[in-house]
Amino acid sequence: MIPRVLSGIQPSGNLHIGNYLGALGNWVKIQHEYESIFCIVDLHAITVYQKPDELRASIREIAGIFLAAGIDPKHSKIVVQSTVPAHSELAWLLTCVTPMGWLERMTQFKAKAAAQESVGDGLFQYPVLMAADILLYQANVVPVGEDQMQHVELARDIAQRFNSLYGETFTMPATRLATVGARIMGLDDPTAKMSKSATGAGHRVGLLDPPDRIRKTIMKATTDSNSAVDLDTMGPGVKNLLAIYQAFTGWTNDQMRAHFTGMRYGDLKKQVAEATIASLEPMQQRYRDITADPAYLDGILQAGADAVTPVANSTVRLVKERMGIYTPSR
Ligand code: TYM
Repeated sequence: MIPRVLSGIQPSGNLHIGNYLGALGNWVKIQHEYESIFCIVDLHAITVYQKPDELRASIREIAGIFLAAGIDPKHSKIVVQSTVPAHSELAWLLTCVTPMGWLERMTQFKAKAAAQESVGDGLFQYPVLMAADILLYQANVVPVGEDQMQHVELARDIAQRFNSLYGETFTMPATRLATVGARIMGLDDPTAKMSKSATGAGHRVGLLDPPDRIRKTIMKATTDSNSAVDLDTMGPGVKNLLAIYQAFTGWTNDQMRAHFTGMRYGDLKKQVAEATIASLEPMQQRYRDITADPAYLDGILQAGADAVTPVANSTVRLVKERMGIYTPSR
């Protein structure tokens, strides 16, 4: 059997180069090695308040970006999570086998909860819904950025616990990280990961940002007190700029060292900006073409949901049978 890959992105705000280099770009490269399912996880997005109109627009925007980035809809399924109700159903079933202590340990929950005035239960249950996304399709491989590794690990723990309570049911998923770019840092503060929600103007490069803006953001990026690149003593800001360059160009470590050693920071930034623009511009052009035809996008999303629903439903049915809850005779 061909192994299955599953991953997802939240439609909350602007996708940035961290999402691309840590996740989406990697999916594009590996999609044909697997049977591939890529989700737009709108039910995850609402674990913190989203303006309904913005959420609706963001779901379509992300579907367009998936296609523009090179997800091949003839091969890979693009699925809006809420259109396959089995995601929510399995999440509840898994909630019942997940100890609260496991969820209390999640670093992302702790960080997000600290930033909210009132913490919804959904934010706490968030990793269980993510485990459901993965286990619903018996995914073998989950390509994510570094910040999601703890959640994939939790999905494994939940699967193991379910299997030991009710018998072998779930496949154990493995994480697959991008070789370079699994953790892109904020350009204004290279000690914090680049995120969709940070508010600083110079924090991230959005995948749909125009070239001028990309140049401006990268030219202002925080570096360190050296004036030229030294790969052995560089600070996190320079390391991050080099990681962005390497991830976009696919250069080897040797090429990077030979080319950048001794380069002044102003020139380094110019080169990083130009490499970023060169990679994003063709994608942005395709994005404009794709989103000019909303019916095309709807068709792709409908086909994705239709293709995966039978697999999802059969997992839920099996889980219910295993747990002993009511399943009508066939
Ligand atoms: P999300 O929407 O926060 O991020 C989507 C993907 O982008 C990666 N990523 C990064 N990679 C490198 N550098 C960064 N600065 C950076 N920021 C984000 C993330 O690791 C992720 O791979 N919970 C998930 C979505 C999800 C999911 C799933 C993923 C829901 N169900 C099932 C895999 C499998 C999330 O919020 O990702």
